[in-house]
Parts: sequence; C-alpha cells; structure tokens
Amino acid sequence: MPRGAGAGQPPEAPARRLDPPAGAARLAGMTKSTVRYVCTACGAAFPKWAGHCEACSEWNSIVEEAADAGPALARTKPNAARKIAFVDLAGDAAPPPRAVVGIAELDRVLGGGLVAGSAVLLAGDPGIGKSTLLLQAAATLARGGARVLYVSGEEAIEQVRLRARRLGLADARLELAAAINLRDIVAALEAEAGVAVVVIDSIQTMWLDALESAPGSVAQVRACAFELIRLAKTRGFALFLVGHVTKDGAIAGPRVLEHMVDAVLYFEGDRGHQFRILRGVKNRFGATDEIGVFEMTDRGLAEVANPSALFLAERRGNIAGSAVFAGLEGTRPVLVEIQALLAPNPSGSPRRSVVGWDGGRLGMLLAVLETRCGLRLNASDVYLNIAGGLRIAEPAADLAVAAALLSAAADRPTDPGMVFFGEVGLSGEVRQVAQAEARLKEASKLGFASACLPRRVARGRGPLAAPDGLVLREVGHLADLVARFAPPADKSSA
Ligand SMILES: Nc1ncnc2c1ncn2[C@@H]1O[C@H](COP(=O)(O)OP(=O)(O)OP(=O)(O)O)[C@@H](O)[C@H]1O
Ligand SMILES: [Mg+2]
Ligand SMILES: [Zn+2]
Repeated sequence: MPRGAGAGQPPEAPARRLDPPAGAARLAGMTKSTVRYVCTACGAAFPKWAGHCEACSEWNSIVEEAADAGPALARTKPNAARKIAFVDLAGDAAPPPRAVVGIAELDRVLGGGLVAGSAVLLAGDPGIGKSTLLLQAAATLARGGARVLYVSGEEAIEQVRLRARRLGLADARLELAAAINLRDIVAALEAEAGVAVVVIDSIQTMWLDALESAPGSVAQVRACAFELIRLAKTRGFALFLVGHVTKDGAIAGPRVLEHMVDAVLYFEGDRGHQFRILRGVKNRFGATDEIGVFEMTDRGLAEVANPSALFLAERRGNIAGSAVFAGLEGTRPVLVEIQALLAPNPSGSPRRSVVGWDGGRLGMLLAVLETRCGLRLNASDVYLNIAGGLRIAEPAADLAVAAALLSAAADRPTDPGMVFFGEVGLSGEVRQVAQAEARLKEASKLGFASACLPRRVARGRGPLAAPDGLVLREVGHLADLVARFAPPADKSSA
C-alpha cells in the first residue's frame, strides 16, 4: 500500500521507540541539539517526538535521528560560487535519449524506455518481486549489449546467481557486486567507463560512513540516494534504486526519496495472486497513469499482454453482486470484475469494507443510492472487492460498482455478457467518461455482447463508434439502473 492509507488503526499504546540499531551507542553520547525526530514513512522532520506523524498520518513512524552536521555549502567559501547563465525557454531541446529495456510492460511504465542519467525508484512490499524484475531487466539490457552493474546490498552473490539460474538468465553478461559501503560503490562507479545502467538493491541497505545515523535511517537513505543520483547525472548512467515499503517504523520507506528521483514505480500485488502490477506514480519523462502487468511464475515475471483475460479468468457468471467494469489503465483498456456482498447487520452501525477501490467513493455512491434511488442499505454491511487484486482509481467505475451493489441487494445477477462504465454524480446522474470507444472495443474483443454506459447528450457529438454487434444500453440516471434490478412483480414496494 504505497500512499497514505497506512495501517489504519492506531496502536493501543504508541510506545516511545528509540531504536536505531547500530547508531544507538553513538546517539547516546550526543548533545540534544544534534538530534532531531524524523518520520521514516514520509521523511518529515519534527523538533519533538510524537506517536503520530502530522505530515502523513502514519502511527509510530517517528524516530530519533542524528541531525546532519549542516549543509556542506555553509562550510565552503562564499566567493567560490560561480555565476549562473540564464537562457531562453525557446532554445534547442532534444528529447532525452532512451534505452529500450526490452520488457514491454516495464518500458511502457517508464514512458518508452529508460532515460540515460535518470534515477528510477522501484518500490514495493518485501518479497513482491523487485529483485526479480530488476534482475530480468538488467539481464535483458546486458544481452542487448549495454554495460549493466548490479549492486546487491541485501543478498550474497550466490543468491543472486541462483536466482539468475532459475530465471534462465545466467548467461547474461551482467556485472555483479555485493556491497553496502557507499564510498566503495561510488569509487567503483567512478572508475568504470561506459556504464549504461546501475541497479542498487536496495537503497535501505546502503551506508555512508560520513553520517552518524544508522543504515536505513532517513538521513542515510537520503544521503546515499543523493550521492548515487548525482553520480548518475554526471556519468550519464540510468540508476534503478530498489526501495522496500517498510512496515517497521525504524527503517525509512521509499516515500522519503520520491522527490529526489525522476520516476517512482510501485510494484504491487497480492501475494495470494500470481500477478503483479507495476504502476508509475511519478515520472519526469513520461505519463504516470500507465501500468505494467506481470505474472509471477517459477521462471520469473512473465509479461501479461492481455490483462483483461487474466482479471476475468476466475469470474463465474450468474452470481448476484458481480459486475464487469470496462476500465482504463493509462492508455490501456482493462476489464475487471467488481464484486459486492451485502450482509444483514441490524446493529445500526454497518460496516463498509473496500478492497481495491476508494472507500470515500463507495460511501458517496451508497449515499446517492439511498437518497436518490430509495435503496435501503443502512441495515447491511457492505463489502466491495475488485477481483484479482487490481486497484482502481477511476470514477468511471461508479456505474459498475452501483450495478454490483444493486445486483447484490436484489439478489439478481447482472447480465454476464454486459460491461459497465460511467461516473455517477451527487444527484444520481450518470456522466460521460473518457475513451468510451476504447472500452467498448475491449469489451467486444473479449466476447461481451452489451455495454451499459452514460447516455450521450447529443450536442455536436457524432455517433459512438461501437464495435459491430455490441448492444449499447444508455442510462442517464442511476434510477434507470435501479429499475432494472427491481423485481418485476412488486415494483411498488421497492
Ligand atoms: N524457487 C522459486 N520458485 C518460484 N518462485 C520463487 C522462487 N523463489 C522465489 N520466488 C518468487 O519470487 C518472489 C520473491 O521475489 P524477489 O526476491 O524478487 O522479491 P523482492 O521484492 O526483491 O523481495 P525482498 O524484499 O526479499 O528483496 C517470491 O515471493 C516468490 O513468489
Ligand atoms: Mg529483493
Ligand atoms: Zn510521516
């Protein structure tokens, strides 16, 4: 879970923790002024310790850390500054040179390949497959003739070799080192010429001896990243930094680096599912809404060229509470099943539980269904799940979520051959969403027969280019959808 959300419940007693593992002894001898308190989740610094970070709302993430000796600039001569030459906006500018990795799902998320001199942070939960992905990327680049250095701070050479053998990559001419001392790594990188790509796995294990704080601390992680990024810019190699999403407050998380790097990619997925999603959340050289879809196999990560088929693979038709959403991830249409379950709860404080969608958005939709469509859900727990572990951010999913909820409430399945998309407004109106044609095309490609979509208010819009044979069911208001699920016999009681 990369952003915000966090652990949810505050711990019972936010015990004060002072546990930088190795730096503790050193810290103990310090005066008060050389100590500060930083949030290991977001990097915010505070003068006092607190159990709760005001900047990112994380609990128990603030730790004591040695303050840096002060900016290095202050210690140099003021007249050593050089004059800056300002230039026009309209000058020569070439697009940045890119190296195509050769793994299409990764290249797409990167914005069309790896930019020379750029720094890419690959963040993800432990064990999700970060090392696997980067070893595959590094080996593919090396096979293409690029000089790639892979520095493992976490695993011994033998472990990386074993993984390479398992993935069938042992023949790739990758240059491998196991090291954590950043001074050594920087010296080694400075001595090498013609390096195209450097992988650091992981940034949290790197250690700069010039700093007092322990490896994994916010100061260490930032300082090490800064040195490596500076080197990448001056030497022109592309830098991959692996960053673990940490649950333990003692180690800095990848978010403390987000502003320093050029691109931030999150590798997500449910460990219970085989597939993994690579999502760009920041990219100075490309769009951020693209995703890459992979499947974890015993031979490593396999690219999934047709994610819709994968996400719908386990769908069983004719079950109440299920609706297929024709979504869009970046430029790619993706069909995914939305599942809703209602369970009676007369306690007066029903649960709303969401996996893969925004809880606030569900609350809004439930309110609209209650106030505008007369649906009574306040005596039911509502569970909403995006099947397969995909996380959806599009408001276009509103209509499909509403269909799943209505289907669950009526205990009548939605038409299994129908896809849904459309945004729902507060008055219950169904609004247009982007790229309707692309969504319809994907639905048709996967064998769907009809689509439920927003009514086209004809004002200068041409007819919708729907694929042949696909039946379009337009709805202008959520009440139109409600009417479809109403039992035919006793409409008056609904
Ligand atoms: N022998 C194996 N056969 C099949 N799959 C394996 C095997 N070993 C590891 N895996 C898969 O690879 C995953 C670990 O991948 P990887 O080490 O790349 O993850 P990571 O994100 O780098 O983890 P870490 O946080 O430990 O660095 C495992 O969760 C598992 O799914
Ligand atoms: Mg790893
Ligand atoms: Zn924070």
